[in-house]
Amino acid sequence: MVKELFKGIYSIDNRICTRNLVNGNKVYNEMLITIDGIEYRSWNPYRSKLSAAVINGLKHFGIKEGDDVLYLGASTGTTASHVSDVVGENGHVYCVEFSERSMQNLLEVCEKRKNMLPVLADAREPEKYLGMVGKVDALYQDVSAREQADIFIANSAALKKGGYAYFVIKSQSIDISKAPNEVYKEVLGKLKDGFEVLEQMSLEPFDSAHLFVVLRKK
Ligand SMILES: C[S@@+](CC[C@H](N)C(=O)[O-])C[C@H]1O[C@@H](n2cnc3c(N)ncnc32)[C@H](O)[C@@H]1O
Repeated sequence: MVKELFKGIYSIDNRICTRNLVNGNKVYNEMLITIDGIEYRSWNPYRSKLSAAVINGLKHFGIKEGDDVLYLGASTGTTASHVSDVVGENGHVYCVEFSERSMQNLLEVCEKRKNMLPVLADAREPEKYLGMVGKVDALYQDVSAREQADIFIANSAALKKGGYAYFVIKSQSIDISKAPNEVYKEVLGKLKDGFEVLEQMSLEPFDSAHLFVVLRKK
């Protein structure tokens, strides 16, 4: 049975799925499931923190059909490809990644998915690409860098007022000597003037030492 959890996100036999934008195409060897002529891609929570957040009870999934999304730390496109399914052919996912090796695989994904636009750049230098991106409806950040809070704030210049932001905070990349909760508190403290925190959650048992935070731009 297909149950819609959010617009564009489904539960099928207890698997989280998105509707495949490119029929027959797999991005990371995920399972394809066809029901009533519609093809879905299973969304592995061990490979994608956004899928783990959905399973862990995410309440705000603000990304919808037609949205433009700025995605920082796209890697080889696992999660970004599911976001691409959700925004559909009228939306765009700007995929920022600075590793040339990951970018090689990401380019193959972007060739098949015309709504995914690769941006080979350092997210610490948004001035190099934000002009091309323009204003976006949502910001997603999953970069394992020490300056995660500064990267988030600088890139949020592209986010529309009221837009949703998804921030995966990796405490160990910021300061391995501090307790994760202390690091999370410091990071969220830096964001409180510009953002409302809608929810925050652990990604256990799928991922450890990360805090998944949903914010809305004031
Ligand atoms: C945990 S992985 C992202 C996984 C991906 N979000 C997914 O779920 O499919 C983090 C990525 O951030 C990239 N990254 C780290 N620092 C970055 C920076 N300053 N600018 C751009 N990409 C960065 C890394 O190369 C890596 O591919």
